[in-house]
Formats: sequence, structure tokens, C-alpha cells
Amino acid sequence: LLGLAVLLLYVRRTRRRNEPPLDKGMIPWLGHALEFGKDAAKFLTRMKQKHGDIFTVRAAGQYITVLLDSNCYDAVLSDVVLLDQTSYAQVLMKRIFSLNLPSHNPESEKRRAEIHFQGTALTQLCSSMQNNLQHLVTPSEMGLKVSEWKKDGLFNFCYGLLFKTGYLTVFGAEKNNSAALAEIYEAFRQFDKILPKLARTTVNKEEKQIASSAREKLWKWLTPTHLDRKSEHQSWLGNYVQQLQDEGVDAETQRRAMLLQLWVTHGNTGPAAFWLLGYLLTHPEALRAVREEIQGGKHLRLEERQKNTPVFDSVLSETLRLTAAALITREVKQDKKIHLSNGQEYQLRRGDRLCVFPFISPQMDPQIHQQPEMFQFDRFLNADGTEKKDFFKDGVRVKCPSVPWGTKDNLCPGRQFAISAIKELVSTILTRFDLELCDKNAKLPLVYPSRYGFGILQPAGDLEIRYRIRS
Ligand code: HEM
Repeated sequence: LLGLAVLLLYVRRTRRRNEPPLDKGMIPWLGHALEFGKDAAKFLTRMKQKHGDIFTVRAAGQYITVLLDSNCYDAVLSDVVLLDQTSYAQVLMKRIFSLNLPSHNPESEKRRAEIHFQGTALTQLCSSMQNNLQHLVTPSEMGLKVSEWKKDGLFNFCYGLLFKTGYLTVFGAEKNNSAALAEIYEAFRQFDKILPKLARTTVNKEEKQIASSAREKLWKWLTPTHLDRKSEHQSWLGNYVQQLQDEGVDAETQRRAMLLQLWVTHGNTGPAAFWLLGYLLTHPEALRAVREEIQGGKHLRLEERQKNTPVFDSVLSETLRLTAAALITREVKQDKKIHLSNGQEYQLRRGDRLCVFPFISPQMDPQIHQQPEMFQFDRFLNADGTEKKDFFKDGVRVKCPSVPWGTKDNLCPGRQFAISAIKELVSTILTRFDLELCDKNAKLPLVYPSRYGFGILQPAGDLEIRYRIRS
């Protein structure tokens, strides 16, 4: 009876004064869930055309208000009390990682990561990352003789190398065991492929089994006692494990929490490096400009070398503009008023979710970026070679032309490390390898559409390359 009453309540929901346009979809309860899950970018673009920069849709019984006015993202999301990120994070942790961690607090996680991924800690981390990468690209580690050609998919090549580099650097284990590293990467990829379906609870029986077995393998590898504990208290991971132990979290839950952290720290960088190199390989003028810049800084130390690279920075910004597609989700804890950048006021309803999707606006907004679907390597460069920061919409300066690292109050604490790792990987590949497309006219693969909402996009296919280590 109670279920029926709740159902009736949902069916009967109508738009109240000052609330955003309401679009419940045709199917009772389910609403737009299927279309939303299948390709969030396509669905939300359609809704934006129909309703404008703010609207509420129904999806699987939940009402979701979607905000697409990028000039008010920071102001709206700064209310971390009434717009709570913990409850939905808990739901996803359970669905994806089989993890129940009531003590998980995104705010304190962010603070911890800020301490360990910035300042002097970051310098040490980057230098260790550089050493690990150099080790992984030696002929013996790659199983390649110098000058011998090998074929691979670019996605697998980039993701594999960066995952292994990051794992050695952040998780500090399996240093001398390349077979184990390869196994961990394989299991991680199997799990990562199914992740969007786990989050939406749309896995079939076979996928459920694959995900469970990959998770089991990873949990085993990630048991805190297997990991490098030498510098336990100084490292981000050691500090995290210590906190879990202090909170009395049992050993099984600790292993599961490690997988959550593995994904947060490794799930985006490899795919971003793939798109960046993919765009370079399919845009010769961009590749030429980046090569020249790398050549100019070859003699400098890592830190210096990475500092003054306006062309590379523009290429990276442009890549992230085209491929960073996180759906930032908050739960509305109490009825709340918000203001759009034009001053218009809207009322959010308690119990609904609020989503911000920077991929649609500002990143793919044709009023901000001309031909937004095109890769233009110098889009973020001024004519004098400095970084271009001024972009406009309807004559008004856009606060952020791209939002790959999240909004002001919730910026990714690992962003500098991610940038450093991507730059180091790409410049190592371009200087240490001959690398070319198997088919010179090949195009970048399309995006795997159900990945919208989960950070950096992934390709539906791969780009075949051949490479050899330079003598
Ligand atoms: C959170 C993007 C790489 C550590 C976030 C968020 C975004 C993001 C958008 C905020 C999500 C939200 O507001 O809901 C990215 C992108 C990356 C990347 C695009 C690579 C291209 C990394 C790396 C690390 C890292 C390499 C660490 C080594 C974190 C952590 C959080 C976070 C710890 C907070 C998670 C939490 O709430 O518990 N990232 N990130 N990220 N990121 Fe990154």
C-alpha cells in the first residue's frame, strides 16, 4: 500500500511556482531513464533545446534537475550543506565497488589528497612517476628489441603504460614483477569497462560475473599488507589505510576501499592521454607544433621542462574540453532557491538531485566555442603564443571555458599530478619511440556513449598503431 502511495505521489508530481520546467517522460516511474543512460550527452542536449538552461527530468523514480548555465555553476555548488555529495557517492560506492563505508567523507578525502598531491609531495611524486615510466619503457620491460616494430591499439598502449606507471608510483607495489603488473591492469580494465553499467545497475548475468571476478582479483592485489608500507604515514595511501584502521574498518572493507581509490586515481589519466595522442596523430600540424616545443625543452629538468609549454597546454585543454564529461551530482537536502547568471530565480525541491554537466555547457556550447565538435589545437592560444583565457557568450565573458577538473569548491585534488603524468607520457612516447598510425587515413574512433557522466570518455573502438623503440 505504501509503495502504491509513493507511486501515486510520483505520478502526480506537477511543476510548482518558480520551479524549473518539468519533463516526466512518457513511461510511468521510469521516465527518461533509458534515454539518459544510453547517451546522456544526446539526451541532455535535446532537453536543453526544448527547455533551456535548467529543467527537471524524471529517471527511474528520481527527479533530477539539470543545470546547464555554466556561469552560475560555482555559485550554486558552493552550498555544500544543502547540496550534499555524500549520499549519492554512497549509492555509487555500493553499486560499483560493493563498498559500504559510512565514514567516507568527500571533503576530508579532498583535503588529504591536497596535502599529498600538491607542493613538495607532488614534486617527489612526479619524480618517482618519471623514474617508473622510464623503467617501463625499457626494451626488456616492453618485451621489444630496439628498432623492432610492434602493433597495438593506441588506447590500450596509453592506458596500459599510464596505469602501470601510476600504480607503481601511488600504490608502490609489484616493482619488479611485470607479469603481476600486467595482470592487475587486465583486471582493472575488465572492471572499468563494465563500470557505467554497474553504476546504473544494468549489468547482465555474464557482465556481473566478469565484474565480480575482476573485483575479487583486484581486492586480492590491493590488500593493504601486500602494498608498499615503508613510507606508510607519509604517503597518501598509507595515510588513508591508517585512517581506515583507526576508524575500526575491517580488513575486507579496507581492500574494497583500495579499489575505489585505485579507480579515482587511475580511471581518467590513461584515457585522456589516449585522446591527446590520438588527436595529435590525426592532426599533423598539431603534432609538428608539439614536437617542436618538446625539442626546445629537451635539455631541461622535468619541472622546468613542463612549465613553459603553451602549445602542449593548449592541446591538453582542447583534448579535455572534448572528452571530459563528468556529471557532477548533488542531493538537495532542503528546498532551496538558486539564481541563474541572468538573475532568474528557481526553486529546487528537497529530495531531488541536482546535476551539472559541463560537457554540454561550456565545453560543447557553440555560442562559446565555434565548431565545438572540432579539435583545434590552438583554441586555447592567443596570437602571441600566450594562454587564451577570454571566451564570450552573448557578449558576456565566460567564467570557465572548460571544466574538466570540477567546479571551484570541488576541484580535483590530483589535477597537477594528472597533468604532469599525461605530459610526461606523451613526451616520452614522442621522443623515445617511432609511433605511427597503421592506416595513415584512420580517424579517431567514436565515443562509447554510455560513458558520458563518468569522467574522461572512452572510445567505442581503438586506433591501430605501430611503434618501435628508437635506437
Ligand atoms: C575528484 C577529474 C585524475 C584524485 C575529481 C573530480 C573531477 C576529477 C571532475 C570531482 C568530481 C565531483 O565533483 O563529483 C579528474 C580528471 C583526471 C583526474 C579529468 C585526469 C585526466 C586524478 C588523479 C588523481 C585524482 C591522477 C590522483 C592521483 C581525485 C580525488 C578526488 C577527485 C582524490 C576526490 C574524490 C572524492 O570525492 O572522494 N577528479 N581527475 N584525480 N580526483 Fe580527479
